[in-house]
Amino acid sequence: MARSIDIRKDRQQAIEAGCEVLGAGFPIAIPTETVYGLAADATNPIAIAHIYETKGRPRFNPLICHMADLAMAEKHAEFDPVSRALAEAFWPGPLTLVLPLKPDSAIHSLATAGLDTVGIRVPKGFAGELIRAFGRPLAAPSANTSGKISATSADHVDADLGERIKLILDAGASTVGVESTIVKVEDGKVRLLRPGGLPASEIERVAGQKLLRSRKASAAIEAPGMLASHYAPGATVRLDATHVDAGEALIAFGKTSVSGIDGARIILNLSKDGDLAEAAANLFDFMKKADASGATTIAFSAIPDEGLGEAINDRLRRAAAPRE
Ligand code: TXA
Ligand code: MG
Repeated sequence: MARSIDIRKDRQQAIEAGCEVLGAGFPIAIPTETVYGLAADATNPIAIAHIYETKGRPRFNPLICHMADLAMAEKHAEFDPVSRALAEAFWPGPLTLVLPLKPDSAIHSLATAGLDTVGIRVPKGFAGELIRAFGRPLAAPSANTSGKISATSADHVDADLGERIKLILDAGASTVGVESTIVKVEDGKVRLLRPGGLPASEIERVAGQKLLRSRKASAAIEAPGMLASHYAPGATVRLDATHVDAGEALIAFGKTSVSGIDGARIILNLSKDGDLAEAAANLFDFMKKADASGATTIAFSAIPDEGLGEAINDRLRRAAAPRE
């Protein structure tokens, strides 16, 4: 059974307990602004292997390595000028940069899946403090069973992985609610590998260029978050719904009207005001609530494909994809 420490009650105790379990080579659940992470010492192969085992991930995939700050990141990766400008503008924050790994980096090849590149981000808030105290990067995928909905609260983590991990650090609900945006700079051009919590338009503003979105075969890393079917609730997912059938769950957005709501099993609205940031923060929690209602289908209202809507729609398409 996992021990849970509320970081809002005792930050120092949370950092000390976290460093102790991490130092012993075990993963712990940590809060980040995007989603909860299942974090382990990125330099320790046994600790990383525990991440895969705990998530029930079928195969090794590159994991994002979390750093305390840009200086720590520079010990492990080469920064081209565009990547550096993006790091300076958006770290700490929901942006992951894929960068060439430095040959003398202590990050273990199990965290990079043997690639000569590494995905790096500097998380905001408590996670950054924990990494600074620990002194080494933390590899951390989302803290959920492989293929399932990502956890945006300590309760989500506990319900899913509580029996399999030693420690959960609780900071309440994640503020962003979807995973980080992943980009890779190639010959000065910025390629979007995964839409996420930092809207593409903000990256374009700082980089002074449009993002490349078509995924080249060489850049397409077959990792769980990139698989067609992922973020899957138990129920079937139906998108762009304008009508709910009796017994279905409805996850609405804004003021769009949907017919048949009297027969809906549960009605949730991601953001009554049509605020995409609020919608992203509620997304995974509401998917779990709709699932728990016992509905066999979750109908989603259409969500605009702009700003954070791009990441929300990406996750919804994967949730709706045929199951593998
Ligand atoms: O918000 C987030 O990013 C969360 C929180 C916990 O920080 N973390 C997360 O990590 O989503 P993870 O390990 O599940 O993300 C893995 C994704 C892969 O799907 C892959 O697309 C990309 O990161 N990735 C990692 N290293 C890469 C590399 N060297 N080249 C290309 N993509 C890479
Ligand atoms: Mg995940």
